[in-house]
Amino acid sequence: MHKPIKSFVKRQRQLGATKQKIFDEMWSKHGLDLTSSQISSKKIFGHSQPLTLEIGFGNGETLFYLAQEHPEHDFIGIEVYRPGIAHLLSLLKAQPLDNIMVYNEDAVVILSQCISDKSLDRVLILFPDPWPKKRHHKRRLIQPEFITTLQHKLKPNGILHIVTDWENYAEHIDAVLKDHSNFSIPKSSDTNPLIQQRPIITKFEHRGQKKGHKIFERLFINR
Ligand SMILES: C[S@@+](CC[C@H](N)C(=O)[O-])C[C@H]1O[C@@H](n2cnc3c(N)ncnc32)[C@H](O)[C@@H]1O
Repeated sequence: MHKPIKSFVKRQRQLGATKQKIFDEMWSKHGLDLTSSQISSKKIFGHSQPLTLEIGFGNGETLFYLAQEHPEHDFIGIEVYRPGIAHLLSLLKAQPLDNIMVYNEDAVVILSQCISDKSLDRVLILFPDPWPKKRHHKRRLIQPEFITTLQHKLKPNGILHIVTDWENYAEHIDAVLKDHSNFSIPKSSDTNPLIQQRPIITKFEHRGQKKGHKIFERLFINR
């Protein structure tokens, strides 16, 4: 059987003893495990509020900020990089929030196995790995099949928000989404409150800015 191409390379390093202790303690409150069954907001949060999914959240600064600012919303994050998850969990240890849950798995697998259709109000993908070399473009997370999966998981009028600092990736995103008739660019008459500017600069955005990169924001609405 052929192995699916991954959008990441596992760069696991050991957490120090203190971080590992916080990780274990906070994972028991905020961690979700890969199961073959689909999750429901009611089961994991105890209620059902508008739900945002952030894929590849890095250090989790945006997820934490949004969850703190919007207790009336719920947030699920997916990240394969454990030190990034450890960072988010340490923020949650310092300031407890009950509207964030996270997966430490490949988003492609979580979406297909654990996320129900029409369950998400918004998907955020901020600065996905650009894989700039042409021979690596196949590793980019944004691919036609992946966008079709996201469309199924979003509710009607749900928002897909992708940001990159690589012009060539922005062009790739535009090309993939152009072929996807269910997604369109929001109009000024679209009143979904989740169409909004991002609140904070992420780690990778900061890196891009330091290199003088332009930032390409892409917002799509699921029709
Ligand atoms: C360039 S970093 C951006 C991190 C963060 N969003 C930021 O703006 O600082 C991309 C992140 O996506 C994660 N990632 C890549 N492919 C993934 C996948 N298939 N599932 C979950 N996370 C993934 C990587 O581990 C990495 O942390």
